[in-house]
Amino acid sequence: MKDSFQILLKKEQAAFDKVLKEYLQQLNMPAYLKEAVLYSINAGGKRLRPLLMRLTCAELGGNEEHVYPAAIALEMIHTYSLIHDDLPAMDDDSYRRGKLTNHKKFGEATAILAGDGLLTNSFHAISTSPLYSAEEKVHIISKLTTASGLEGMVAGQLLDMEAEKKSISILELEHIHHLKTGRLISFAVEIGGYIAGLPSNKLQTLKSLGEYLGIIFQIQDDILDVEGDEEVIGKKVGSDSENDKSTYPSILGLEGAKIYKEKYLEEAMKCIEIVGLKNTVLADITRYLSERNQ
Ligand code: IPE
Ligand code: IPE
Ligand code: MG
Ligand code: MG
Ligand code: MG
Repeated sequence: MKDSFQILLKKEQAAFDKVLKEYLQQLNMPAYLKEAVLYSINAGGKRLRPLLMRLTCAELGGNEEHVYPAAIALEMIHTYSLIHDDLPAMDDDSYRRGKLTNHKKFGEATAILAGDGLLTNSFHAISTSPLYSAEEKVHIISKLTTASGLEGMVAGQLLDMEAEKKSISILELEHIHHLKTGRLISFAVEIGGYIAGLPSNKLQTLKSLGEYLGIIFQIQDDILDVEGDEEVIGKKVGSDSENDKSTYPSILGLEGAKIYKEKYLEEAMKCIEIVGLKNTVLADITRYLSERNQ
C-alpha cells in the first residue's frame, strides 16, 4: 500500500475513533458487555466506510463533521456483522482484525449480544444526534435499514450461506456480493453526498458508484482469502475454500477474478467522472480498494 494512503487511513482512524468511542463510552451498559463491544470496536478495523463517507462529503463541498453520527452508525453495523459472521454457526473463524474473534474471547452468547447491541444502538446514534434535522434523521435511518436489514446485508449473508457447497452462476454471486458488502459501502458514499446536499440524480450515480466499490471490495476480499498474507490482513487465509464457499476465484479462477475486478474499476471510474470527482482522493481510494493487501 502506498505510504500516502497509510497516512490518510491513520489520520482518519484517529479522528473517527475519537467520536465513535465517545458515543459508546457514555452508554450505560454492563461492564462485561462494554468490554466485549469495545474489544471488537478497538480491534483495529480499517474504517474504510467512514472514510468513504467523509471524503465523498468533503470533496463535494459538504460539512464533513456532519457525517460522523451516520458514519458511527455504519461502522457499528459493520462491526456487528463481522462479530456474527465469525460465529461457529456462520463462518466459524477464530481471528479477526489480528485478534481472537469476539466469541473466542467472550463466549458465543456475549458475542451475539454485543452484535445485537451494536446494531440496535446504531439507530440511536443517529436519532439522538444534534447535527441532523428530524427529516434528515428519518432519511438516513431509513436508508441504513434498507442497506443492512432483511433486504440488504442480512439477505446477502443468508444467500451467501445457501451458496455453500453448490455451484452458482457469476450473476448469482454478484447478487450476493452486492447485498452482503455492496449495500453498506453504497450507503457510505450515498449518504456522504446527501449530507453535502447533492441533487437526487447525482445521488443516484453515487449510489451506483458505491455498489461498484462494494463489488470491487468483495472481489478483492475473495482474492485475499486465496493469496493474502494472514499477518497483514489479520484474518485466516483459506477460510472460504474450507467452507466450500462460492467466490470469484472459485468460479473464475484467480486471474479471471482479477480481470473481472478491472471491469468494475472502469465502471466505478466512469461514475466518479460523472459526479465531478475525477482527480480527487475518492478516485485514489477507489484504486486502493481494488489493490489493497489488507
Ligand atoms: C471485511 O470488511 C468484511 C467484508 C465485507 C469483506 P473490512 O475489510 O472493511 O473489515 P475491517 O473493518 O477493516 O476489519
Ligand atoms: C462478510 O463476508 C460480509 C459481512 C460480514 C456482511 P466474508 O465472510 O467474506 O468476510 P470475512 O472474509 O470473514 O471478513
Ligand atoms: Mg461470511
Ligand atoms: Mg467471514
Ligand atoms: Mg471473505
